[in-house]
Amino acid sequence: MRIGFCCDHAGFDIKFEVIGHLGSKGFEVEDFGTDSAASMDYPDVAHPLAEALLEGRIELGVAICGTGNGMAISLNKHKGIRAGLAWNREIGVLVKKHNNANVLVVPARFASLETIRETIDAWLEAEFAGGRHQRRIDKIDIV
Ligand code: RB5
Repeated sequence: MRIGFCCDHAGFDIKFEVIGHLGSKGFEVEDFGTDSAASMDYPDVAHPLAEALLEGRIELGVAICGTGNGMAISLNKHKGIRAGLAWNREIGVLVKKHNNANVLVVPARFASLETIRETIDAWLEAEFAGGRHQRRIDKIDIV
């Protein structure tokens, strides 16, 4: 399975650990940047990842910025993207179980690398519950 990865400068410090972690889970990782610790604008990497997912070139995505909010707000501009912000194991489970997030967003400045790995694993291993949660997801898109 192919998974996309993107981060801004705030996530660059942990970029290669996270990509390596995803690789260790058996994913082929497509890297959308950023490629240095230089200050950059998160939409420049979030939008290409979202487009790749909607075109079927990747099946899932992981995005990292300082708070997670810039990435989540940018990604969720794309109809069909459900980018969920999570910062611990419990929310990692629920963002899949309840929201079926196809992109997990984590906040580099508010969680340790270990917690970020745990959050990613929880999201990857959880299963979407469907039922009433599918009904709610079906009501999200407005255009
Ligand atoms: C970068 O300083 C920071 O604004 C960004 O990483 C993110 O937290 C924005 O939402």
